[in-house]
Amino acid sequence: MSVTTSHETAISGYPQAVTLSDGRTIDLRMLAENDRDAMVAFARNLPEQDLLFLRVDITRPEAVDNWLANIAAGVTISIIAYDGEQMAGFATVDRTPARWTRRVGELRLTVGHDYRSQGLGRHLSAKIFDIARELGLKKLTANMTPDQRGAQAAFGRLGFTAEALLTDFVEDRNGNLHDLVMMTFDVDGLTDHALQ
Ligand SMILES: CC(C)(COP(=O)(O)OP(=O)(O)OC[C@H]1O[C@@H](n2cnc3c(N)ncnc32)[C@H](O)[C@@H]1OP(=O)(O)O)[C@@H](O)C(=O)NCCC(=O)NCCS
Repeated sequence: MSVTTSHETAISGYPQAVTLSDGRTIDLRMLAENDRDAMVAFARNLPEQDLLFLRVDITRPEAVDNWLANIAAGVTISIIAYDGEQMAGFATVDRTPARWTRRVGELRLTVGHDYRSQGLGRHLSAKIFDIARELGLKKLTANMTPDQRGAQAAFGRLGFTAEALLTDFVEDRNGNLHDLVMMTFDVDGLTDHALQ
């Protein structure tokens, strides 16, 4: 008898397509090893301001390899968005290893500059919310700096609220310290925000 795990259920149903508000069709797939080079190229194309605050420096192939290892270990689930051969964005959820925070996952969401404000972030987050629910997560966190005003506004629109401000938690690529804003989303409570 085959037993379907919550992890398998969460990642079933891919690939699938979504349509952006400008009419472009975007394919959503689960991130896999053969996406490594596309991910590095995507990261290297991000605006300087985004690169400054990348939580994991995915312009480095080794960092993407670590990410892929976490996927293989079941710690991370990631959706990658393609416009034809070109990568348009990604959403990823990392489960926390500590037992007492096992119901909390961290969301990272990045959309390529040419694809912003067309609803891709909303599509990706809605899919990640479904996955988070399937995995039994209760809360998602998203970390950013107070300087990332656009991202804070967008996450607010997606149903996240600012829950903590941590002083000097972030060192950017230039070695400067910034505060960290932790925004959170209640997976069971506010999911409809992502689907409106
Ligand atoms: C944040 C980010 C993922 C949004 O992606 P996107 O595809 O542009 O978002 P969408 O078009 O789906 O917009 C989602 C909602 O946020 C709003 N929004 C998007 N960008 C916004 C901005 N700069 N300012 C205010 N609101 C914004 C949209 O209006 C939309 O709300 P609505 O549907 O109620 O109108 C994208 O800007 C990004 O990749 N930023 C850099 C990475 C980052 O800082 N990530 C945060 C740390 S995890």
